[in-house]
Amino acid sequence: MSVVKADAYGHGVVPVCRAALAAGAAWLGVATLGEGVALRLGGIDAPILVLGGLTSGEVADAAAHRLSISITSAEMAEIALQHVGAVPPVHLKVDTGMTRLGMFPQDVPMLLDRLLAKGIRVEGCYTQLACADEPDHEMTRDQLARFQLVAGMVRARVPHALIHAANSAGALTAPHTHFDMVRVGLAMYGLYPAPGMASRGALHPAMRLHSRVVRTARVSSGTAVSYGAAFRTTASTTIATIACGYADGYPRLAGERGQVLIRGHRYRIAGRVCMDHLMADVGDDPVAVGDVAQLFGDVISADEVAAWAHTISYEILCGVGLRVPRIYVRNGTTST
Ligand SMILES: Cc1ncc(COP(=O)(O)O)c(C=O)c1O
Repeated sequence: MSVVKADAYGHGVVPVCRAALAAGAAWLGVATLGEGVALRLGGIDAPILVLGGLTSGEVADAAAHRLSISITSAEMAEIALQHVGAVPPVHLKVDTGMTRLGMFPQDVPMLLDRLLAKGIRVEGCYTQLACADEPDHEMTRDQLARFQLVAGMVRARVPHALIHAANSAGALTAPHTHFDMVRVGLAMYGLYPAPGMASRGALHPAMRLHSRVVRTARVSSGTAVSYGAAFRTTASTTIATIACGYADGYPRLAGERGQVLIRGHRYRIAGRVCMDHLMADVGDDPVAVGDVAQLFGDVISADEVAAWAHTISYEILCGVGLRVPRIYVRNGTTST
């Protein structure tokens, strides 16, 4: 399963789905009904699972758009039972220890019986691992032990049910979590869920965030840069203004330690990141208006930006602003 929620982690969902399906993905995973419907309206025909919970009013809509749904709580099982006849195929989500979504393992046998008795199609059973990004974590062992009991019971009653548990971390590092399907998000976008996993594959980040230098200013030592005048130059230098700010998804917090790449060189961000711009101290180098600046991508990684902003790469990718044009490059040709 390619996990394409949150606009495919900021990459633009329909083109990502097309690429993922062409590369062999069997399923697509979204978080909400709206995301699933948007894929159907975008002409995507593949099996789609809504990973989040639905309200009573949403279940029939999901069925109408041929979306499989997750039973994310005992209450949602009751909702499905009230909509018999208009319930799409369901995957039982089991809370094996993350305490986010899912039925508790002990509740599954009875709820499964009731769903089956009403003719609701149980297509799968899954759980989400909380600590798969840390090797051999006790939590993963506990979660899997609980899940295996439930999955075995579901299998016994529904032999073709798809059993799934692994996210990117599990897919990359823990084959015993793979079962019938893995649900891969971050790794599909070319990033590792944790730094220690880089030896587990050869991933290349799909996303590069670029902008351009829109102004350069030669300034003397002691010149204030950006809001709050919190940064002052310590020598005569050139300050390059780049058209990318926090409205584009560049985190304001990253400004304190962040760098940008221009003409193959890294430069420190000077002063606070603004809504639409940030400034870089480019010294005496020949940086000019129109130069491309890489905010992250293949040289400066999203992981680095995440570290500067005290967050994780997931948030950096998902945060890229809507107004940033997505340009897709495939075999040297570009499209939007
Ligand atoms: C239920 C579920 N499965 C799979 C994933 C994919 O996770 P990752 O991006 O770490 O592969 C997510 C994302 O959070 C998720 O919520």
